[in-house]
Amino acid sequence: MNITVIGTGYVGLVSGACFSEFGVQVTCVDKLEDKIESLNRGEIPIYEPGLDEIVARNVRGGRLSFSTELAEAIDQSLVIFIAVGTPASDDGSTDLAFVEAVAREIGQCINSYKVIVTKSTVPVGTSDKIRGWIQEELDRRSEKMVFSVASNPEFLREGAAIGDFMRPDRVVIGTEAGDDHAIAIMKDLYRPLYLNETPFVETDIRSAELAKYAANAFLATKISFINEISVLCEEVGGDVQAIARAMGLDQRIGKKFLHAGPGFGGSCFPKDIASAAHFARELGHEFSIVEASIRVNARQRERMVEKIVSALDGEADGKTVAVLGLSFKPETDDMREAPAISIIRGLLDRGVSIRAYDPAAMAEAGRLIPEMVLCKDVYEALTNAHAMVIVTEWNEFRMIDLSRARELMAELRMVDLRNIYDRERIVEAGFQYWGVGR
Ligand SMILES: NC(=O)c1ccc[n+]([C@@H]2O[C@H](COP(=O)([O-])OP(=O)(O)OC[C@H]3O[C@@H](n4cnc5c(N)ncnc54)[C@H](O)[C@@H]3O)[C@@H](O)[C@H]2O)c1
Repeated sequence: MNITVIGTGYVGLVSGACFSEFGVQVTCVDKLEDKIESLNRGEIPIYEPGLDEIVARNVRGGRLSFSTELAEAIDQSLVIFIAVGTPASDDGSTDLAFVEAVAREIGQCINSYKVIVTKSTVPVGTSDKIRGWIQEELDRRSEKMVFSVASNPEFLREGAAIGDFMRPDRVVIGTEAGDDHAIAIMKDLYRPLYLNETPFVETDIRSAELAKYAANAFLATKISFINEISVLCEEVGGDVQAIARAMGLDQRIGKKFLHAGPGFGGSCFPKDIASAAHFARELGHEFSIVEASIRVNARQRERMVEKIVSALDGEADGKTVAVLGLSFKPETDDMREAPAISIIRGLLDRGVSIRAYDPAAMAEAGRLIPEMVLCKDVYEALTNAHAMVIVTEWNEFRMIDLSRARELMAELRMVDLRNIYDRERIVEAGFQYWGVGR
C-alpha cells in the first residue's frame, strides 16, 4: 500500500518511518524545504532514540521518501495522514489553521478515492470540518469524488516514540457510520499490529477524537494530583515518594504518572487539556477536574521557583544557579512548554544568573532564553554555582560526581525537582538537599 504522511514533525516522521518499517510505501511531506532537504541528506531534524536507524534502513530499502510535493505524493497514495501541528490559541482553543490548509490542499489535488486520516490531536468535530473543507475545494473544481475521513489519534510519547508506535497499548480508529471500506483499509495498513494482538478500538469519529483528549486530561490530572499531595507532604512532613508507591501498588490506580515534580509540560498536555477545557466551555460545560489540574500545574511551576529562592536563603539576587536539564522530559530535545523555561525566567527575574546544561535541547533552549550561559557538561554548569537544580531527569544526572561538584561549586546546595537522589547520600556528601514533597 502507498501512503502519504503530511507534516514531518515528531508524530509524522515517526509514524511515516514506522509504517515503512511495516513494509508500507511511505512519502513524508512537509512544507519546510530545509527540513525535507536535510531529511533527504540523511539528517534527522529531531532527537528521538532509534529513529535515525529506521529512517536510514527504509530509505535505503526504497520504502520511505521525503518531499515537498503534496500533489504528487497524494496521487500515488490510498491513505493520507494529516500529522501537522495543532497549537493552542491564546484563549486555549485549538488553532486549526495548519489542518485547514492541508485539507484544502488535499481537496485541490485528489483525483481518486482516498482515506483522509487525522493523526493530529484535534477537537471533536474537526473531521467533519475536514470533510467540509475538502468538499468545498472539490466543488470549486467542479469535481465529484468519493473519499473517506477517519480519525486515528496518536498516543506515542517523545523519547520512547518508536517503541510506542511499534508496540502500542492500543490503536484507536474512528470512521464515519457504515464506512466499512475505510475500516478495511485501515486494518490492512495496521495488519502487523493486528497480528501482534495489539488491542484495536474501532469507533465513531467523534469518540476517537475525544478519546485522545480524555486520555491526556486523565494523565495530566494524575500528575497534578500527586503534585498537590506533595504540597501536603511538605506541610505535614510526609514523603510523597512513599505515598505514590503506596497508591501506585493498588492496581486500580497504577504507579505511572505519580511522580511529584515541577509539573507537566511538553507539546501535548498543556495545549490538549487547555483545548479540552475550552471546547467543554463552548458546550456550556465546565470541565472542572481539568480546569483544576491546569491551575495546580501553573501553581506548581511557581512553587519550584519559590523553593529554589528559599534554598538560596531567600537571597536570590546576584546568585548563580546551575540548571541541569532543559527539555520537558528526558530523551527528547523538545522544549515546548518545558517547566525549565518558566523556572529559569522566574529566577532571572529575581536577579539570578543561570548556567545550564542539557544533553539534547541546548540549541533550542539557548534560542528561547538567550540570557543564560550554556555549558558543555554538568561540571562546567556547576562551576561557581550557589545551587544545582535538577529540572529534567536525564540518566546522566543520576550519577553526578559529588566530590568533583564539591570542588567546583561556590556553595553546596542541591534542589532535586525530580526526586532522583536520596537526601541522606547528598547530606553525607556535604550538600544541603531539597526535593519535592519529601
Ligand atoms: N509530539 C508528540 O509527542 C505528539 C504525540 C501525540 C500527538 N501529537 C499531535 O500530533 C500533531 C503533530 O505534532 P508534532 O509534535 O509532530 O508537531 P511538529 O510541530 O513537530 O510537526 C508538525 C509539522 O507539520 C508541518 N506542516 C505544517 N503545515 C503544513 C502543511 N500545510 N503542509 C505540510 N507540512 C506542514 C510543519 O512544518 C512541521 O514540520 C499535533 O496535533 C500534536 O498534538 C503530538
